[in-house]
Amino acid sequence: MTCILDEKINKKLEKIFEELGFDTKFAMVKNSDRPDLSDFQCNGALALAKIEKKNPRQIGEMIAAKLSEDGDFAKVSVDGPGFLNLTLKDELIAQTMMDMAADERFGCEKTNNPHTIILDYGGPNVAKEMHVGHLRSGVIGESMRRIEEFVGNKPISDVHFGDWGTPIGMILAEVIERDGGLEKMESYDIAEITAFYKQANIRCKEDAAAKEKARIITAKFQDGDSEYKKAWQHIRKVSVDAAKENYQELGVHFDLWLGESDAHQMCFEIKKIAEEKGLLEYDDGAYIIRLDEVNKPKPPVIIEKSDGGFTYHATDIATIKMRVDDLHADEIVYFVDKRQSLHFEQVFEAVEKLGIAPNVKMRHIGFGTVNGADGKPFKTRDGGVMNLSDMIKLSKDKVAETMPKAGAESGLSQEELDKLIMQVAVGAIKFQDLKNNIASGYIFELDDFASFEGKTGPYIQYAIARINSVVRKNADIKSGNIMITNIEERNLALKLSQMNNVIMRCEAEREPSIISDYVYNLAQTFSSFYNASPIKGAESENVAKSRIALAMLTCNVLKKLLFLLGIEAPEIMPKA
Ligand code: ARG
Repeated sequence: MTCILDEKINKKLEKIFEELGFDTKFAMVKNSDRPDLSDFQCNGALALAKIEKKNPRQIGEMIAAKLSEDGDFAKVSVDGPGFLNLTLKDELIAQTMMDMAADERFGCEKTNNPHTIILDYGGPNVAKEMHVGHLRSGVIGESMRRIEEFVGNKPISDVHFGDWGTPIGMILAEVIERDGGLEKMESYDIAEITAFYKQANIRCKEDAAAKEKARIITAKFQDGDSEYKKAWQHIRKVSVDAAKENYQELGVHFDLWLGESDAHQMCFEIKKIAEEKGLLEYDDGAYIIRLDEVNKPKPPVIIEKSDGGFTYHATDIATIKMRVDDLHADEIVYFVDKRQSLHFEQVFEAVEKLGIAPNVKMRHIGFGTVNGADGKPFKTRDGGVMNLSDMIKLSKDKVAETMPKAGAESGLSQEELDKLIMQVAVGAIKFQDLKNNIASGYIFELDDFASFEGKTGPYIQYAIARINSVVRKNADIKSGNIMITNIEERNLALKLSQMNNVIMRCEAEREPSIISDYVYNLAQTFSSFYNASPIKGAESENVAKSRIALAMLTCNVLKKLLFLLGIEAPEIMPKA
């Protein structure tokens, strides 16, 4: 028996529709657009009227008459042109809450079509510190990974490290320029390598000969030159280690740490397939695949440049083939800046032409940029890009201002306090990122998103800690059967009953903001409930026990949802 409220009602409707000889596909309710009038509404009578060639109100009345015989409805009415408005008996709502509380998944469904989904997010590059752009990809991707897993799919996340191509040649050329060779390469750490890369960027901009040198080295190292390869391995290793540290702080997990370099061999194969299929063209020294030039015109995909190097397009196409062949992907989803939309359109079209991923869904979920107050992509005060660890540090400093000192008064050790600050600081950044539609950008405003008031991570974390504290303070009252005794309890319970729908919709639309909206509303609904529904001063012991049970259920649901967003929920927060 399902413990999802709207499904319970749908089942009842289906039975009635069947009895009346109506098509059961219209036997469906949704949360009421007019919560002041009803809990749920069914608009099926309007659609049925056309098929049955009857007045929709008449159909509505027929359904309503049968529904009124069902003991679970307090009120059934037909309104307007034929909307069915349904109000549930409190007992059904209370029972649903108890079913939810008794199930570790809170009664949430699993997908009936489980499939393997490769999630491509993160995408940092060698020798470059991660910046706010990488933040969004990691945060959104990690949340979707958890959501896919929760609904019963098999997500595999891959960081797709940018570890191939010209930057490597530039760094090597720069080191050779300064040291006269690569002997010292392995003594350089990430900061030094990043500095070499910065220097190389400046040099290559000014000096065509330096650029050419870097290009030749890139071609040689991609060709397998052993000395360059060894140097590259070191650069890759220190870059990956640094990225892992960053992602560890952010709580972002990857199943695979593959990169563009891992697709290199497969690029030859792609070129061969393109040739066999008659898709490969030699154009101005480069190998290309032409795409649609009429309906949705796109520039051709360059597979191999005139200097023999494979491109970003080529490695992405090759990676898709590997994901299909080796990982048996049913779907591949990319969480990458929307400014790369054209890139992915080209890649997907080329893949389709090549026929290397039959029946595999491919989707680019493009996100907007993190902007400064001027509406332009965020820059630090000196005009540089804000790197990720500085951003976390800023958030930590901000959060620390609101926290007490470690010691007897707060009851927190320094270690506990540090952990708490980290959880709140990262939670603030992540919630801010996930509360907007993915496609829209947002303004980086630390004062707003580290606040304990408003739609923020800290507000939700605080709400959870407060419920924990309420339960602790009432430890003498054990949780008991849930019953509805006032409107605030009823509202809270109805809100809780929407959890499954929210998660399913979020998964289908690949839009974590659906969860963050709900989490925020739920926390607010709880707050109204708590203000109106005393526990110690409840009218009876049973009511008190019921309220404890509702509070604990809300707390567990909020925690689970924060988990799905990738945000931690501290057990205790000062002043909660
Ligand atoms: N490294 C790329 C960048 O910084 C992002 C990679 C995104 N993933 C992909 N499969 N192309 O722009």
